[in-house]
This record gives sequence, C-alpha cells and structure tokens, in this order.
Amino acid sequence: MGILLSSAAWAAPPLEVEDPMRGPTPIAEETNPPLISPIENKDIKRMRTYSMQPPTIPHKIDGYQIDKNYNRCLACHARVKTEETQAPPLSVTHYMDRDSNVLAEVSPRRYFCVQCHVPQAEAKPLVSNTYEDIDVILKRLTAPATGKK
Ligand code: HEC
Ligand code: HEC
Repeated sequence: MGILLSSAAWAAPPLEVEDPMRGPTPIAEETNPPLISPIENKDIKRMRTYSMQPPTIPHKIDGYQIDKNYNRCLACHARVKTEETQAPPLSVTHYMDRDSNVLAEVSPRRYFCVQCHVPQAEAKPLVSNTYEDIDVILKRLTAPATGKK
C-alpha cells in the first residue's frame, strides 16, 4: 500500500536546462527546425583561430565522394594536382603516421578530410562562447609590464 501511494505521488521534475538546439519545446514534442543555411562559397581563406586549427573549407563540397574507392578532395589537393588546380597542397602532417614518420602517400588517419575540415554556413551561433584569441590574451598579459594598454 505504501509503495502504491509513493509511486502515485511521483512526478517528473521540471526541466531546468534549456537545450539551445531544441529551444523550449518539450522533449516529447517535435521541434520546428530552421531551414538549412546556405554554405559559404567565397573561395577566400578564413583566418585560423589558433595555429593548429584545421583550416575551414572556403568552397562548397556538396556531393563530393570520399570513400575507399575515391577521394574527391585529393583530385584537387593532392601534391601532383595542385599546379593544375591551384588548390593549396596538403601540409606535411597529412603524410605523417602517429610516430611522425613521413610516408610517401597520405596517411590513412588523414584520408577522411571532413573529419577535421568543414565548410561554413551563414548561421547564427546556437550557443554563445567566450573564446579569446591568444594574441588578445598575450596583449592583456603583457600590458601592465610595459605600462601600455
Ligand atoms: C575542384 C577542385 C577542388 C576540390 C574537389 C576540393 N577543393 Fe578545397 N580548395 C580548392 C581551391 C582552388 C582552394 C583555394 C581557395 C578557393 O579557391 O576556394 C581550396 C581551398 C581549400 C581549403 C582552405 C585551405 C586554407 O589554407 O585555408 C581547405 C581546407 C580545403 N580546400 C579542403 C577541401 C576538402 C576537405 C575537399 C573535399 C571535401 C576539397 N577541398 C575539395 C580546390 C578544391
Ligand atoms: C585528423 C585531422 C585532419 C584530417 C583528416 C585532414 N586534415 Fe587537413 N589539416 C589538418 C590540420 C590540423 C591542419 C593545419 C595544420 C597542419 O598543416 O597540419 C590542416 C591543413 C590542411 C590544409 C592547409 C595546408 C597548408 O599548408 O596551409 C589543407 C589544404 C588540408 N589540410 C587539406 C586536407 C585534405 C584535402 C584532407 C583529406 C585528404 C585533409 N586535409 C585531412 C587536419 C586534418
């Protein structure tokens, strides 16, 4: 009897966290997702936010095949193709295995380009962030020592 009473009194706690990707829509209901934003295709290299960042892709890649049979990216970015295509060649890190040996061919761990490189869309960020460029941080850290702002 006691067990029955307590289970009847139980109710789901109110949802306190709001998922910015879902909005306030209750979990059991379907959201009304925004339209897919157009992919930027300006062919202008974007600044890297930190030195080890895989550069973002400044062109469309819709429908590009990347599987064990064919790699559309390498059709332009492979070392031997870059004179004809004027695409930037892969840097040497793409030829290194995990022990830093430089291989003759693209290392298998760098074969699936879109694991690391992504195109960009004109879209409002879904979550805010407080990321600061290292140059901004360095400037702030050195400012008191030099007396400059
Ligand atoms: C038709 C040729 C072609 C194909 C195919 C192609 N690219 Fe490119 N890519 C270029 C050219 C040319 C540039 C130089 C900037 C521009 O013109 O867009 C470039 C620029 C880039 C850059 C910018 C590099 C930097 O230093 O900022 C990245 C990253 C990139 N491509 C990745 C890819 C990936 C990943 C794929 C496959 C999904 C791909 N590309 C397929 C021609 C190509
Ligand atoms: C595991 C992550 C990873 C994968 C997979 C990967 N890259 Fe990269 N790529 C990077 C990083 C990190 C950089 C920047 C630092 C560097 O050069 O290593 C980079 C740099 C580049 C650059 C700029 C080179 C330069 O000298 O400015 C191009 C072009 C590029 N990648 C194309 C590709 C293509 C095409 C593929 C697929 C064949 C690919 N990458 C696969 C991580 C990756």
